[in-house]
Amino acid sequence: MEQLQHVAIIMDGNGRWAKAKGLPRTQGHFVGVDNVRNIAIKANDMGIKVLTVYAFSTENWKRPLEEVSYLMKLPAIFFDKFMKELMEKNIRIKMIGEMEQIPKDTAKILQRAIDKTANNTGMILNFAMNYGSHREMILAINHYAKDVLENKASLNIDEKGFEKYLMTSDLPPVDLMIRTSGEQRISNFLLWQIAYTELMFVDEPWPEFTPEKFEGYCHDFLKRDRRYGGLK
Ligand code: FPP
Repeated sequence: MEQLQHVAIIMDGNGRWAKAKGLPRTQGHFVGVDNVRNIAIKANDMGIKVLTVYAFSTENWKRPLEEVSYLMKLPAIFFDKFMKELMEKNIRIKMIGEMEQIPKDTAKILQRAIDKTANNTGMILNFAMNYGSHREMILAINHYAKDVLENKASLNIDEKGFEKYLMTSDLPPVDLMIRTSGEQRISNFLLWQIAYTELMFVDEPWPEFTPEKFEGYCHDFLKRDRRYGGLK
């Protein structure tokens, strides 16, 4: 998929999906973990280069402690179950977000997955964990200011210069962003990066967002006329 290199997903609706079935919210997250695997495998098979998934935002710390603790267990559940398959599929794990505030054992598991897959050359599965766009831009500005003071950067930079300070600096532009479960908002996800990204807000809650549906939406994307503000 030449025109579709980088897809970002806001995996919303786990809680509502579980509640509708009379299950605890955490059960929705548990099923959601398996779906990260299903969509990642599909995306890799389709030749997508990067799949960025919003797993935990800087705002998610406001949830009840019990739910935050459970969300922090998801990387362990995911990598215990799927690391072997990720290696077989040559998928590389990356992360955007700040590792520092993540509980030590979770951070260790994430770092181990990043290190173990570092030489894989297939799709990048990029977890946004403790990620928020405002925080990312503030960190970028602070880093840039420091570089100016230390004569490592010039006082005037352009957009490309600024992008080097973002957590996505080594990734291709986001072509398509999908949010599941009906809400139409961006929730502090990749705000700078989505200036010309195609957006899709789809009704399925994340646990019901199947690989077939994902592929269908990717084909819908190919039909869109992207003009980047120009004329064609
Ligand atoms: C939003 O749904 C979802 C999250 C805050 C967490 C999403 C995480 C996963 C799907 C799994 C991540 C996997 C790994 C390996 C880290 P919600 O709970 O806000 O749903 P609601 O809007 O229905 O309440």
